[in-house]
Amino acid sequence: MYRTHTCGELNLEQLNKNVSLAGWVQRSRDLGGMTFVDMRDRYGITQLVFNMEENRDLCLEARKLGREFVIQVTGMVTERSNKNPKLPTGDIEIVIETLRILNPAEVPPFTIENETDGGDDLRMKYRYLDLRRPTIRKNMELRHRMAQEVRRYLDSQGFFEVETPFLIKTTPEGARDFVVPSRMNLGQFYALPQSPQTFKQLLMVAGYDRYFQIVKCFRDEDLRADRQPEFTQIDCEMSFVDRNDVLDAFEGLAKHLFREVLDVEIEGAFEKMPYDTAIAEYGTDKPDLRFGMKIKELTSLVQGKEFQVFDSAEFTGGICAQGCAEYSRKELDVLTDFVKRPQIGAKGLIYIKCNEDGTFKSTVDKFFSAEELKSLADQFHAKPGDLILILAGEQSSTLNALSELRLELGTRLNLRDKNTYRPLWVVDFPLLEWNEESGRFHAMHHPFTSPKMEDLELFDTEPGKVRANAYDLVINGVEIGGGSIRIHDEKLQKLMFKNLGFTDEDAVEKFGFLMSAFRYGAPPHGGIAFGFDRWVALFAGLDSIRDVIAFPKNNSGRDMMIDTPSGISDEQLKELNLSLKY
Ligand code: AMO
Repeated sequence: MYRTHTCGELNLEQLNKNVSLAGWVQRSRDLGGMTFVDMRDRYGITQLVFNMEENRDLCLEARKLGREFVIQVTGMVTERSNKNPKLPTGDIEIVIETLRILNPAEVPPFTIENETDGGDDLRMKYRYLDLRRPTIRKNMELRHRMAQEVRRYLDSQGFFEVETPFLIKTTPEGARDFVVPSRMNLGQFYALPQSPQTFKQLLMVAGYDRYFQIVKCFRDEDLRADRQPEFTQIDCEMSFVDRNDVLDAFEGLAKHLFREVLDVEIEGAFEKMPYDTAIAEYGTDKPDLRFGMKIKELTSLVQGKEFQVFDSAEFTGGICAQGCAEYSRKELDVLTDFVKRPQIGAKGLIYIKCNEDGTFKSTVDKFFSAEELKSLADQFHAKPGDLILILAGEQSSTLNALSELRLELGTRLNLRDKNTYRPLWVVDFPLLEWNEESGRFHAMHHPFTSPKMEDLELFDTEPGKVRANAYDLVINGVEIGGGSIRIHDEKLQKLMFKNLGFTDEDAVEKFGFLMSAFRYGAPPHGGIAFGFDRWVALFAGLDSIRDVIAFPKNNSGRDMMIDTPSGISDEQLKELNLSLKY
């Protein structure tokens, strides 16, 4: 037997017991007659003591232990004179009687502690060492807990877990596919699923009226902190439901996870906000509701004062930062640089300071009288001490810049407390969005999303105005999930494909299997998929999903540890009848 206990469980209750432990050497310290070794496993850290006077040979052996050696020890649980209240095992230490080195280790390339000296690339290259660090291990544990709770809850609600294939054909989620050449069908390719969307709809046709799956999805898109090329969804679908049935079912799941995993009770129904309101008031379809600071449009109010920037702008809007009138020139410059960053792209930042004495100071003093500045400040219900920040330009990019500025100020003013959770359903998304590059409409969600029936007439006149029966779950400004009620009627599906610029042949070639299934009794259905990695990161209080994925890719889509993507052999190419141009 290698061990009787783990390194995280011994305390004064086991005093004077003989125990065996196995694990890794975190560090060792020689203090004259004594050698102390911190021994680590998945469960915690236990202090081992070797005493020179009592067992000289053993102590000398212990002095040879290097970091990350794998060892097995036996010894007696003893009360520590110098207790460590920060460790669950901090009241005891093990006075060692036998020591076995199970495997020596090379010096690790970085320290395996919460605060490590390893840079990102190094940690990714040696991810198996990084995963030993308690912070990362805790994230993995959290992920495991959440997955178990998802299964437990959905099972209790009658959901049926079904696996769907990975070698499929193009999916309609709008990113690029990863493709896999077929050896048995030369010149033909599979695509990896961007989501199991079409399969879960086919499962509804099959009559499996409550489906879920915790499943890998693959999307070849530009990566960010919250995007990985392969990521995990909690994918769900239900039959005989309307929108509110779906929202209620998954509000239940969300509340269950908050309660069981975080011990947080979310009272009442989640707020629902139409997409148009989210954009107008927060400049984004994923508003962070932990703080106010709503955007106010000022376009027509500020025109005609000879200030060229406002006069020529399609949209002018602002936000009011409470208590920030005392920001210095330098602090305002930092905010100006922030909005001018290429990824935000504003041309400049205009401010109105509402001074404590009731006067105003503004970048546009020359064009606006004190009364005019006051009436602008009144739009925001600004009080003395507040700072109004204004941006002007093209509508959607200005709203986006205001949204970023709002979040930046929220962070600076500590209004985005990680322990406060504000879930929100964003509903009534546009069905279609115009794509300049291709000169046609694209589905904002995917082509199987149902339009709102009351908007059907708009297809002929203003297709861009048709709203979708689609919804996103947003928590603290993070898009945690999205879904929709689906089209289950072949005629409506055809109309949708037509509006997306698909010819009948295109539609049949890409999604003929689904359209034909719909002819055999498709029930009304709808569903949702949650970004599981994002949800775990949110619960862990992290901004990047990489730290909640055991083996993530870096920002260029590389796995630094196994060093891939990589070339394939000439034989493999030949077998696949493929040749490379470079
Ligand atoms: P959607 O494309 O909105 O919907 O994806 C659902 C959720 O998956 C997460 N997500 C990602 N997480 C990490 N990395 C990525 N690259 C990534 N892309 C998406 C997000 C998102 O909200 N089939 C539909 C769902 C449906 O209609 O039922 C779908 O996949 O949290």
